[in-house]
Amino acid sequence: MSFIVNRRDWLKSGLLASSGLALGSATTAQASTAYSSLGIFDVYAEREREIVQEALLAAAPQVRARLSSNENPWGPAPTAIKAIADNAPKAFLYAGPVTAELKKTIAGMHGVTPDQVMLGAGSSELLMASLLLAATKGKVMMAETCYISGRDAREDGATMKTEKVPLTKDYQYDLEAMATRVNSETSMIYVCNPNNPTGVMLPSAKLKSFCDSVSPKATVLVDEAYIDYAPNPATDSMVECIRKGQNVLILRTLSKLHGFAGLRIGYALGQPALLKDLRKFCSGGFTVSTTSAAAAVASFKDKAFQDMVLKNTIESKKFLCDSLTSMGYSYLPSSANFVLFPIKMKGPMLLQKMMAEGVSVKSWFFDQQHWCRVSIGTMDEMKAFKDAFAKSVS
Ligand SMILES: Cc1ncc(COP(=O)(O)O)c(C=O)c1O
Repeated sequence: MSFIVNRRDWLKSGLLASSGLALGSATTAQASTAYSSLGIFDVYAEREREIVQEALLAAAPQVRARLSSNENPWGPAPTAIKAIADNAPKAFLYAGPVTAELKKTIAGMHGVTPDQVMLGAGSSELLMASLLLAATKGKVMMAETCYISGRDAREDGATMKTEKVPLTKDYQYDLEAMATRVNSETSMIYVCNPNNPTGVMLPSAKLKSFCDSVSPKATVLVDEAYIDYAPNPATDSMVECIRKGQNVLILRTLSKLHGFAGLRIGYALGQPALLKDLRKFCSGGFTVSTTSAAAAVASFKDKAFQDMVLKNTIESKKFLCDSLTSMGYSYLPSSANFVLFPIKMKGPMLLQKMMAEGVSVKSWFFDQQHWCRVSIGTMDEMKAFKDAFAKSVS
């Protein structure tokens, strides 16, 4: 039997008690223990797995390409790096004024008010807070294969109640099925668009009409980590729903297009009352550093950098897809900075072989099929992938 987590259980789990404050202050191990004791979205365990993978890669005779975490090898922008250096002397101050400026910049960019914006040290912090909040209220609906579908691992005891809806045959979110299954128990619907690990994107009109009809019944959480790579990010985003006052929560990150994975900046867009509720489970922006916030303001202004990243991403992605075709592999259409394709051997076996060649990738198993996900890197990295993959499957 499962039960729904309340805030008291979460506090008792030791995370806040041990840190005295919030997520950003807790050590990885403490946070990991706290979250896994609740059985909720064990993102820290995921990071630990990545650290193990990185150690294996480092042990390879020659590290040629890190293509397993959807990072952006062209970032951060030189203007962002300069902002970090310029603001480093101010780092003895708490980040209040700089984060206020960042919130204003983000609000202006999206045509929302600053009280509809909440910052986080990466969007992971905000995603976890959203799921914890949803778990206090009911069930979280998600696609059978999406960014978080493998992480609410435990089906016993204190497990978040989830409902997983299979993807359609062409690996789209099945919004019709999801809408039909929403009921009074559903507290949140998680939609990752473009989806990770598939890279597949929903037509924006379809998702907007889903938000129109479903958000009066439950919060629609749209994870837009990869939306910057979509054909028309401004209109493909669900930000219009926020402007219309709907019960929609959007999560964005600078880890991808802006190359900030190690700088940790993400943000949520939502109605002020919902963001206030979210603050019960996260720092509300206090975890963001002066240097990273200043770098984010600079990076948002640097359109030339963003255009360069998009141009290079398209070029490398085309090379990757053409290479896969030439080697007899098909792939899913990707609107993100990675490509997922079905493989003809077991995923862990491929990973091991690729690692020995100095290239890291990720593997999945779903729909009775092993899959490989390759992040988009520089042309040299894509060539290293092609070479390592050809050797690994021969
Ligand atoms: C779909 C999705 N959401 C959220 C995140 C978390 O990003 P970050 O915490 O770096 O902002 C990632 C990271 O890869 C992701 O793929």
